[in-house]
Amino acid sequence: MALIDIQVPDIGDFDEVTVIEILVKPGDTVKADQSLLTVESDKASMEIPSSHGGVVKELRVKLDDKVKQGSIVLVLEAEADASASAAPVAAPVSMPAAAAPVAQAAAVVAPVAVASAPAAAPALAMPAHEPTAMTGQLPHASPSVRKFAREIGVPLAEVNGSGPKGRISQEDVQSFAKSVMTGDVRTQAQAVKAPAGSGGSGGDGAALGLIPWPKVDFAKFGPIERKDMSRIKKISGANLLRNAIMIPAVTNHDDADITDLEAFRVSTNKENEKSGVKVTMLAFLIKAIVATLKKYPEFNSSLDGDAIIYKNYWHIGFAADTPNGLMVPVIRDADQKGVLQLSQEMGELAKKARDGKLSSAEMTGATFTISSLGGIGGKYFLPIINAPEVAIMGVSKSMMEPVWDGKQFVPRLMLPMSLTYDHRVIDGAAAARFNVYLSQILADFRRVLL
Ligand code: COA
Repeated sequence: MALIDIQVPDIGDFDEVTVIEILVKPGDTVKADQSLLTVESDKASMEIPSSHGGVVKELRVKLDDKVKQGSIVLVLEAEADASASAAPVAAPVSMPAAAAPVAQAAAVVAPVAVASAPAAAPALAMPAHEPTAMTGQLPHASPSVRKFAREIGVPLAEVNGSGPKGRISQEDVQSFAKSVMTGDVRTQAQAVKAPAGSGGSGGDGAALGLIPWPKVDFAKFGPIERKDMSRIKKISGANLLRNAIMIPAVTNHDDADITDLEAFRVSTNKENEKSGVKVTMLAFLIKAIVATLKKYPEFNSSLDGDAIIYKNYWHIGFAADTPNGLMVPVIRDADQKGVLQLSQEMGELAKKARDGKLSSAEMTGATFTISSLGGIGGKYFLPIINAPEVAIMGVSKSMMEPVWDGKQFVPRLMLPMSLTYDHRVIDGAAAARFNVYLSQILADFRRVLL
């Protein structure tokens, strides 16, 4: 049996974090990836997982200790087979970037609690924390308190924390629940009252006046197999449900004529064959969308109470299909990058997403998201907004179609686009204008310079 020092893994942008909860004690048997302790920065808390399975021999930290990447948290007597494959540190833990209320994708390892935003119809994986509804600040609470709040359907963002820095304790959650029961307090929205993170079967729809979710013994009808959902799917599911319920979303569909752009893309790829960088339609789309966002800035905004926050930066998230579920890597400052650079970055980020290696910085801060199913197929779908963004573009597979040019039908390559927007911020007419302008750019890419 080998003794292994379990260390704090990569914690993204944070130098030092404070131990706020210790979840194991000497003598406990832990599995690889099991959470050992909870640490907290000014902005968020997260769990530190064990890189190995084994028995805890010695704790090397206590509550309120400051730790950083590489700090030894405990000594583990590892299982026989674990020592051989022992990685020195656990897989990187993702935490929302310090000042980023816009959390995007599900953290790969041990994010604490339910998170922020949503996804596209099939589903975007989302972030790890629940910003308060109005301020975008993350509520301070340990994972066990978050879990407790989720279980009893309390919206943590509405609970006032009585601890240091407003940290929410279990007692705070209990007294909030009591106040709601006695009618002294009402939650901000009935929809929030339903524990959105409580499962794919829809949570407690009773708060919405819905009939209960059907309980069916499927085995009665034939053989079945039960599999737990991946962590990413669980997190994204909670976000999808919240965003689907809370955002008054509308989707406008349109088609863009990309015949000439596709010819240009094909010739560009021929010219750049040797560089190894392949340009896909998505890279052009990002460029065209940034130009459209600049013309219609409300699509690059977020709601904050009664105010709209307009962002003067253009970070574009794109949904990437991974074996564990959908992730949303973010291309920063897409306005400052050419199509070749965008293609290269997209390729690198998509690979990292598939390998489970995206850092928190690579998943946060998006101002607008694109979900492209163009490489797969289908025609139009209704993407769900990735809150706190206010719009998302879904594109499907382009097809040759007969288009009337005033005299005759001509074959043109048409790209189906589905723009979902938050109707509280964006009017239908603005959405139609957005799609028209975007289509014009895609039909004649020189317009991107205007
Ligand atoms: N119409 C027709 N063909 C398209 C297309 C479109 N709109 N978009 C891409 N294609 C083609 C590409 O040209 C490429 O063809 P080729 O291999 O003959 O050159 C092929 O489809 C595959 O493209 P892909 O590798 O998927 O690149 P991409 O830049 O289009 O997409 C990702 C990159 C990461 C977005 C993509 O791989 C992915 O994960 N898509 C799924 C996203 C998703 O699941 N969204 C739903 C969220 S709810």
